[in-house]
Amino acid sequence: MKGVILAAGKGTRLYPVTRHIPKPLVPVAGKATILHGIERLVEAGILDVCVVVGESGDAIRDALGDEACGARLTYVTQTEPRGLAHAVRFARDFVAADPFCLYLGDAVYDCSLAPYRARFDESGCANLNLVKPVPDPERFGVAHVEGERITRLVEKPSQPDSNLAMAGVYFFREPIWDAIDALQPSARGEYEITDAIQLLVERGEDVIAGVYEGNWFDTGTLSSLLTCSGFLLSGGMRVGARSQVTGAIGRNVAIGADAMVRCAAIENSIVLEGARVDCEGVIRGCLIGGSVKATALTDVIVWNDESVTP
Ligand code: TTP
Repeated sequence: MKGVILAAGKGTRLYPVTRHIPKPLVPVAGKATILHGIERLVEAGILDVCVVVGESGDAIRDALGDEACGARLTYVTQTEPRGLAHAVRFARDFVAADPFCLYLGDAVYDCSLAPYRARFDESGCANLNLVKPVPDPERFGVAHVEGERITRLVEKPSQPDSNLAMAGVYFFREPIWDAIDALQPSARGEYEITDAIQLLVERGEDVIAGVYEGNWFDTGTLSSLLTCSGFLLSGGMRVGARSQVTGAIGRNVAIGADAMVRCAAIENSIVLEGARVDCEGVIRGCLIGGSVKATALTDVIVWNDESVTP
């Protein structure tokens, strides 16, 4: 089985930091987000992985190289981020006739994907999707499930009648390619993978769900990134090599290597490798990179003198 990781988004919700560092390289608990994904694929026996990159592809390629965590990496470029199904098409030559696992590059999982791969292998189905009950299904692609079978999929329904969100990992066999080819852009102008899967369902293919038992995190926003980091740090802190911190370090703080941080106190924040931070007061709920001088920093994303409050 092959792996395809989608890492071609613009990461606008983490601007200004993701203007300087591609979102897949933003560290969560001291490790680039995408490496958490590659590790999960390797653990599930998927060692041949294609990374679909976009405008920040060179930086990702330079950082990861041809091999990471025991996986062999191949890169393809999605010319424009026009949706998940659009992105997958660029990996078609790489995948060829093999089954593959599609993984969203900004998702982090705390438990193995191996049982879901095993179920996909033994079922022989066209597609198995990780799903997870969530309190706010209207934000996700939502699956209607009977037994193990997915009977219908709806992207971001305004009045959801299932709480099972599509959880960012998909296993496919060859029928998906025809379904992707038949897609039209959605109302928001993107080629949606949920639409392609709905087509599989309508064509009578076996499409099944695997309810993910672990914790699933999206790292695409400041608050979800900090939640994920805090979980992986078990609320604790991590300071990278050669970094200097003057000030009290509270819960959920990750500081990259070679950083210099001066503040009264810091909590629930991520400071990137090499950053210089000089803050008279408290730093709380922030993602910080570059060279920053401030009186206090709360709930913002900062790079040099530019800051964005999500
Ligand atoms: P999103 O979070 O929807 O998009 P994004 O990463 O560009 O972030 P933002 O909304 O803040 O601008 O994407 C989810 C994942 O899918 C992410 O890892 C990037 C990837 N992706 C692609 O590779 N190609 C695409 O066309 C899209 C839409 C997303």
